[in-house]
Amino acid sequence: MHLLFVGIVLALSSLVSSLDNGLVRTPPMGWMTWERYRCDIDCEDDPENCIGEDLIKRIADKMVDSGWRDLGYVYISIDDCWTLKARDSSGRLQPDPKRFPSGIKALADYVHARGLKLGIYADLGNYTCGGYPGTTLDNIKIDAETFAKWEVDMLKFDGCYSNSSEKAIGYPKMSAALNATGRPILYSCSWPAYEGGLPPKVNYSLLGEICNMWRNYDDIQDSWESVLNIIEWFAENQDNLQPAAGPGRWNDPDMLIVGDFGLSYEQSKSQLAIWAILAAPLIMSNDLMTISEDSKELLQNRLMIYINQDPLGKQGKRIAKVGCLEVWLRELADEQYAVAVLNTGTDGLPKRFTTSLAELSITKCTFGYKLYNVFDKEYLGTFKPETAFQLPVNPSGVVMLFVRPAALAYHPL
Ligand code: GLA
Repeated sequence: MHLLFVGIVLALSSLVSSLDNGLVRTPPMGWMTWERYRCDIDCEDDPENCIGEDLIKRIADKMVDSGWRDLGYVYISIDDCWTLKARDSSGRLQPDPKRFPSGIKALADYVHARGLKLGIYADLGNYTCGGYPGTTLDNIKIDAETFAKWEVDMLKFDGCYSNSSEKAIGYPKMSAALNATGRPILYSCSWPAYEGGLPPKVNYSLLGEICNMWRNYDDIQDSWESVLNIIEWFAENQDNLQPAAGPGRWNDPDMLIVGDFGLSYEQSKSQLAIWAILAAPLIMSNDLMTISEDSKELLQNRLMIYINQDPLGKQGKRIAKVGCLEVWLRELADEQYAVAVLNTGTDGLPKRFTTSLAELSITKCTFGYKLYNVFDKEYLGTFKPETAFQLPVNPSGVVMLFVRPAALAYHPL
C-alpha cells in the first residue's frame, strides 16, 4: 500500500516535473521572423523576405556586425512555415529543402559560430496555425529529440488545432521531453494565450514551473492600436500577471515592432518603455538590414536594456491612470527604480505631468535620488523625495526615468 502510494506520487511528479534548464534569469532578448516576415515562403519571387536559411543567416550576420548581439540580443528564431507539409518516413519534422537546403543543424552551427542562439517553432495540435504539420501528443518526444539533435536553443510551442485537455497534457509533456534531452532549450509556451490568459483557467504557478516564458494574450500587429490594446490588457490584469514573472519565467506581451512600418518615433519609445517595465522578453521582429538609425538607437538604448534586464526580475505595474496619462513603475535591484509616464492621448499638445518621487512611493533614500531621462540620455539632477518636478509627455509618447539612490556612483551608461 505504502509503496503503491510512493509510486503514484513519483509518477505524478514526473508528469509535472519542472523545467530545470537554468535559462533566462533575465528576460530573453533576440529576434523572431513572425510579425515582420509572416508565412512568406516565396523564395523565388521574394528572396529578401521569405522564411529560409538565407534570411536567418543575413540577420545573424547583422546581429553581430551592428552590435545587437553584444547588447544581449542573442536569440534568433524561426517561427511558423519552416517545414514541408508532411513529416519524413521516420515521423520527424523536416525543413523545406528549397528554403533550408543545408538543414537546421547546419543553420544552428552557423548561428552558434557567431555567438548567437537558434530558436524554432512547433505547434501542439494537428497543424500549426499556418497549416503545417503539428505536434500531436504522440509526436512530442520525437520532436523534442529532433530539436535537441539539431542543437536548437529555444522552442516556441504554439497551440492552434488542439483543445484545452490536450493542451493540459501536452505543454507539461513537452517540458519534460525537453528536459529529458539534456540540452537546455528555452521553452516558450503559447498555452495561456489560448485559454484567455487568466486564472482560474490559467495556472500561472504551474506555467512558472514548466515554461521559461509564455504568451498571455493576442498576437501583436504592426500598429499603435495593437500595442495600446496589449498595454491596456496587461495593466488591467496586472494583479494576476505580475506575481507570475521572475527569473527564468516571464510573461510575454509579444514581439517588439519597433523598426517596422506602424509606429511613430514616440510610439516606438512607448512600446520599449512599457516592455522594459513589464520585464518582457525583448524579441524584435523587424528588418535589421534596412532599419532606420532612429529605431536602431531606441532598440539599442543601454539604459532601457539595463532596466529590462534588472537581476531582481520583478515585473512592474501601472500605478496610476489620470485621464490619458498613465504612470508605470518597476522596482529594480539596489533600491533603483524605473518610471514611465505614458500619454495615450491624441491631443497634439504635450501633457505636462507634475509629480514627485514621494508621490510615486519612492521615499526610502532621504538624501534623494539621481534621475536620468532614459531616451533623452540626460542626467536630470538629484531630487529629494518630496521635490516636485514636471515632465512634458508627447502624445502617444512616454517619458522614462531611471531613478538611482544618490549615494550610488554616477551611472556609467
Ligand atoms: C499564432 C502565434 C503567432 C505566430 C503564428 C504563426 O498566431 O500567436 O505568434 O506564431 O501563430 O502561424
